[in-house]
Amino acid sequence: MAPPRRTAAAAGSSTAVILRPAVPADVALLRHWDTQPHVLASDPNDDWEWETELGQSPDWREQFIAEVGARAVGFVQIIDPAREDSHYWGDVPPDLRAVDLWIGEADDLGQGYGSQMMQLALDRCFAVPTVTAVLIDPLASNVRAHRFYERFEFRLLERRRFGTDECFVYRLDRAGWLTRQSAQPGRR
Ligand SMILES: CC(C)(COP(=O)(O)OP(=O)(O)OC[C@H]1O[C@@H](n2cnc3c(N)ncnc32)[C@H](O)[C@@H]1OP(=O)(O)O)[C@@H](O)C(=O)NCCC(=O)NCCS
Repeated sequence: MAPPRRTAAAAGSSTAVILRPAVPADVALLRHWDTQPHVLASDPNDDWEWETELGQSPDWREQFIAEVGARAVGFVQIIDPAREDSHYWGDVPPDLRAVDLWIGEADDLGQGYGSQMMQLALDRCFAVPTVTAVLIDPLASNVRAHRFYERFEFRLLERRRFGTDECFVYRLDRAGWLTRQSAQPGRR
């Protein structure tokens, strides 16, 4: 993967989101967000081991803090699921990406930040010419997140159990992403 760089959505707007690399100094913030009810509800069974993971930058993963102005509002992770070291996704083909994201504070939900974060993440994923599709695995119960992803043209692939979590696996192919891009004025 290319080294992280700062990227911005809604350029020129005071609510423009940028993604900057997550660093070890973000541990306390991410641990705090982990305790927020909406974050726990979406991912009740995982320990992200921030103290360990933020000190590492494997070439199959990028972790970002989303900021609005200078204020942190959310987290985004992009992995290559075929190369991720725990093999969470099992036996998957190469040239995919998988994305995780959340808004940290409940007050920042529903402000459009998550949409910008996802747009930036998808731009980043598909900027790699060989990437064919992006995967997402919301809990089967997370109906609002399903709607969020479906607006991005993600399509339901299967229901699947990851550990103790019942999830829906959604996939966005490059063709679907291009269709969405061409439908948005001002974007390529
Ligand atoms: C999903 C999420 C990243 C979207 O970001 P956002 O800034 O809230 O979303 P936007 O303002 O851009 O878009 C609004 C949409 O987000 C989704 N959303 C809003 N609040 C949500 C919540 N608490 N849980 C899940 N999805 C939510 C809904 O689809 C909403 O559209 P709706 O009002 O028609 O239901 C964010 O809501 C979130 O972090 N939710 C909790 C954690 C989560 O579910 N993460 C995804 C795990 S796979």
